[in-house]
Amino acid sequence: MTLQERLLVNAGLVEEALARACARYDADFAAVIDAVRYSLLAPRAKRVRPTLVLEFAKLFGGSTEAALPLAVAVEMVHTYSLIHDDLPCMDNDDLRRGRPTCHKAFGEATALLAGDALLTGAFAEIAAAPLAPLAVRDAVSVLSEAAGAFGMIGGQVMDLAGEDTLLPLDKLLKLHHHKTGALIVAAAKLGAIAAGLSLDDARMTAVARYAAGVGLVFQIVDDVLDATADAETAGKSVRSDSNKTTFMRYYSPDEALAYAGAVNEEAKHAICDLQDTAFFFEFADSLLGRRS
Ligand code: IPE
Ligand code: IPE
Ligand code: MG
Ligand code: MG
Ligand code: MG
Repeated sequence: MTLQERLLVNAGLVEEALARACARYDADFAAVIDAVRYSLLAPRAKRVRPTLVLEFAKLFGGSTEAALPLAVAVEMVHTYSLIHDDLPCMDNDDLRRGRPTCHKAFGEATALLAGDALLTGAFAEIAAAPLAPLAVRDAVSVLSEAAGAFGMIGGQVMDLAGEDTLLPLDKLLKLHHHKTGALIVAAAKLGAIAAGLSLDDARMTAVARYAAGVGLVFQIVDDVLDATADAETAGKSVRSDSNKTTFMRYYSPDEALAYAGAVNEEAKHAICDLQDTAFFFEFADSLLGRRS
């Protein structure tokens, strides 16, 4: 299977599981249910984080069945973060995953609630996963830490602080590691947890280092695309971070991509002692070269 074929298979599995996860219906709650489905099941979502869950589970001998609820959970948290990130009080964007943003389609209050529903729903998915109780505990711990004030939310706080005020480069790196890296690291760890690895397993450290590198590369490329891509190709609003501290404040697009290339090599090196990692090398390279 080529990388593209393997990504399509994973995305198909994830999307079926996401659809099952939001199949429950109550007409009185229709607005929020529709908004959740609209954002979560949007066809242009790349499913990067759930792919990492499924692939790291597979790498360590876990089953897809055990990994899928954790893949769904991280994609729910990610989608909630996008809905809230797009709100007028945050980035105030109109286009996401090739569609009008959730608040443009459903109104601000419903978009806010859809994000809330996704964040809480993610932990219900983990609770119902066919995993040993200790694995469920580890998954909750990893995802809540990554999503919370000392993870992604901390990164979003720094992102707002970097609006109109230039943050120094070390703070920008911290911002990126938190707002984007934290959830990508969590996704990789969730895959390992689904395969039965404990958090103190040495392989968990390698997995986390790989994913931290991939996460930084991912956000550097996101900064470059925000400055250089067109909205149709990106599937989302562009130039929306031009008043913020991003890699574009320190580097030209080519310099930023060279920086990302070096981080990408370090990321791949972090898992060089593991077996059967060809997929992860190719996946990292594809994220470095992505156009959307
Ligand atoms: C966008 O994430 C937000 C960032 C952290 C840069 P993705 O680029 O993974 O967005 P989707 O899930 O494919 O829409
Ligand atoms: C978003 O970063 C990170 C999140 C926690 C959602 P950006 O604001 O750069 O993401 P995009 O460009 O809107 O997707
Ligand atoms: Mg933002
Ligand atoms: Mg944004
Ligand atoms: Mg961006």
